[in-house]
Amino acid sequence: MSRNREGAIIGQLVFDGRDIDILEGDTLGASLMRAGVLMTRRSRSGEPRGLYCAIGVCHDCLVSLDGVRNVRACMTIARPGAKVHAGGTRDESG
Ligand code: FES
Repeated sequence: MSRNREGAIIGQLVFDGRDIDILEGDTLGASLMRAGVLMTRRSRSGEPRGLYCAIGVCHDCLVSLDGVRNVRACMTIARPGAKVHAGGTRDESG
């Protein structure tokens, strides 16, 4: 049985105004990392944070997804049309 290393592009999400391709089965974090987005939020002291554990433990990857705060990018399947914002803060863009 053969297997594609790269799945098919099923659509795009929008991360802070930037279109990001989504491959079938991707998490938000995987989609962002593939696109070169390494920072998903800032710490209280302003330091950049991004995917770290990638298994839902560290909470460094928190984003806002369609207006819902504090979503773990590494544990959430990406879907086309999703609006994602860095910081895990409220989606101000509507
Ligand atoms: S990278 Fe650790 S919870 Fe997502």
